[in-house]
Amino acid sequence: MTIRCYTVGNRQINAKPEVHAKSYSQPFYKDSALCSTCHNEVAPGTGSVIVNTYGEWEKSSYNNPDDPSKNRTCISCHMMADVQKIGENVQGISTDGGKVKDNVVTHQFTGANHHLVGLRNKKLADMSIELLRTAAELESRIDDDGQLVVRVKNVGAGHALPTGVADFRQLWLDVTVKDANGTIILEDGKMDAKGVVPADARMFQKVFGDKDGNPVGLLFWRYEKMIKDTKIPADGYRDETFALPEGVSYPLSVDVKMMFRIYHNG
Ligand code: HEC
Ligand code: HEC
Repeated sequence: MTIRCYTVGNRQINAKPEVHAKSYSQPFYKDSALCSTCHNEVAPGTGSVIVNTYGEWEKSSYNNPDDPSKNRTCISCHMMADVQKIGENVQGISTDGGKVKDNVVTHQFTGANHHLVGLRNKKLADMSIELLRTAAELESRIDDDGQLVVRVKNVGAGHALPTGVADFRQLWLDVTVKDANGTIILEDGKMDAKGVVPADARMFQKVFGDKDGNPVGLLFWRYEKMIKDTKIPADGYRDETFALPEGVSYPLSVDVKMMFRIYHNG
């Protein structure tokens, strides 16, 4: 038996584009509520909220339908043809020979998982990495007590950073401080050669616990109590403070990196 798979050809769509647009371009496709059905998840047994991406977005400044210049839906960021131009229009065509649209969106759902999409297509991996780079900004200063304060600002994610399966992701600070002589006086969050990140690294994540408060690890459906939540809220920031040794010779040189990985081994 031969199985044939028919798809609607570009030529057919272009013959009567208004018919295609009328059936497939419904207003709800442009609405973030469409994404909420799956990007908010509740554990079947315990009823605890596992993923709250839609809820995080809903209360952020990105949910601003009254001011279109500030309003960013899930679609504005994740179906954007050019990640560098979020909030602008990207002209293009969606079918061969079709008419040029003011803004074309893609169905790639560029997100954080650069590895999985990269197995299919290197361009998709690059788009995910580009999107990730828009998420955060770092600032550092020495406070009045002579401690180093690193501020991590969520400037580009329309929800918490990280979001979704934030219990699987690892996002942390890698810090090196040198004194005036170039001697290292502080190191923090250095991953070792086996890929293990020190337990005391400054991680931005949520850690789920079971009913007794023991970490559930990857068994997320057992989640009942949040043990730790250091995700950075949309529009928000977190300050991480590092003690420096006494009597250091200024000026200091501070090197701070935001590290991210989608899977980890510990
Ligand atoms: C202003 C742009 C913006 C908006 C609006 C936005 N996102 Fe994101 N999203 C990002 C960025 C940047 C990342 C990568 C950083 C991160 O993981 O938070 C991301 C990551 C994600 C991820 C991947 C998380 C992971 O680690 O696997 C999902 C899923 C996601 N967004 C869904 C949504 C949904 C659903 C909405 C609407 C309710 C939405 N986003 C709104 C920018 C945005
Ligand atoms: C029918 C369920 C469903 C709907 C509706 C849905 N998604 Fe997803 N989406 C998923 C699943 C499942 C994944 C893969 C697991 C994950 O990363 O959460 C995913 C993955 C993603 C990712 C990639 C996450 C990464 O790590 O790279 C993004 C971005 C995303 N969705 C955005 C959206 C947006 C924007 C909408 C609304 C236009 C939407 N989704 C609607 C189920 C859905």
